[in-house]
Amino acid sequence: MLGIETTCDETAAAVVERLSDGGGRILSNVVRSQISEHAPYGGVVPEIAARAHVDMLDGIIGKAMTEAEIGFDQLSAVAAAAGPGLIGGVIVGLTTAKAIALVRKTPLIAVNHLEAHALTPRLTSGLGFPYCLFLASGGHTQIVAVLGVGKYVRLGTTLDDAMGEAFDKIAKMLGLPYPGGPEVERAAMLGDAKRFEFPRPMLGRPDANFSLSGLKTAVRNEAARLIEPKAQDVADLCAGFQAAILDLTVDRITVGLRLFQEQFGLPRALVAAGGVAANLAIRNALQDIASKAQTTLIIPPPALCTDNGAMIAWAGAERLALGMLDDMDSAPRARWRLDEETPTPAKFARTRAQH
Ligand code: KG4
Ligand code: ZN
Repeated sequence: MLGIETTCDETAAAVVERLSDGGGRILSNVVRSQISEHAPYGGVVPEIAARAHVDMLDGIIGKAMTEAEIGFDQLSAVAAAAGPGLIGGVIVGLTTAKAIALVRKTPLIAVNHLEAHALTPRLTSGLGFPYCLFLASGGHTQIVAVLGVGKYVRLGTTLDDAMGEAFDKIAKMLGLPYPGGPEVERAAMLGDAKRFEFPRPMLGRPDANFSLSGLKTAVRNEAARLIEPKAQDVADLCAGFQAAILDLTVDRITVGLRLFQEQFGLPRALVAAGGVAANLAIRNALQDIASKAQTTLIIPPPALCTDNGAMIAWAGAERLALGMLDDMDSAPRARWRLDEETPTPAKFARTRAQH
């Protein structure tokens, strides 16, 4: 299975083989990050991303095929992330996959990018269903019950900023480089987390949703009060912010796991994915939560935790094995919920208010 990923700022292609025992083998996994193109702007610029995908994708696919040492005629199918993501990039990846499928007469699998993150621990650890996924990246923050291929129940999501986005925005306002997550984490290690008392929105709520924009505003207000912030001020602000994020993460995932158990029994694992899962303080907190909930923590290796082509290929292979193919008129999608049936929190809130 060839997998193509272009939903954000990584141009990626990979070839993955699904073995007869249900396990997987990565034959190649080529990722080209666009970080240097976006860094001057402090965040991903959609137009620049789409153009870079157009420029790079052919070469990246060629490299993935060469490294896998296979020809196009040996592919069982081709998979591309068809969303959710920046629409320009999604169009580039999906159209390329369609062209390959058409010319080579192989099936097309239009993969949901979130599903690919969700199924990765089955590729890396052979994990069985059901399990609980915490996905926290620059674009997403979700707690999801993964019950089977194509069977997902979203237990919690962010009502505003994604967690990685919050790290990036804090970094930008404090003059730290992009991407901000690792910079904020590094600065936080040198800071006093008690100097600033930041709010913990949603703490203690019975649902498992996140809200991070109020926390971000609180950090901005404190930063604005400081005249010419020194390195120690920046470190203290980062430490205070990260402490709030930790408290929120522990509280929200604990609730998420409780909701999981009430509905689906004990999860086989708590899985963390997305760039934020690289944060050591967050990893340690997740370890504690998993132990308390009597489950194991699985975090795929960093290269498979962040955006990559192997996860798209693997999700495609899992779907192909179940005969879940897609049409050539599958549309690229900027938004695409993993569980289309479960109402969004906003709808929940409206229905509750109406009653
Ligand atoms: O999964 P990812 O590589 O790409 C997508 O967003 O899809 O995630 C990148 C995000 C960025 O917002 C980055 O700041 C954040 O993950 N991140 C971190 C850390 N490393 C990366 N956030 C907190 N702590 C980190 N160590
Ligand atoms: Zn992602």
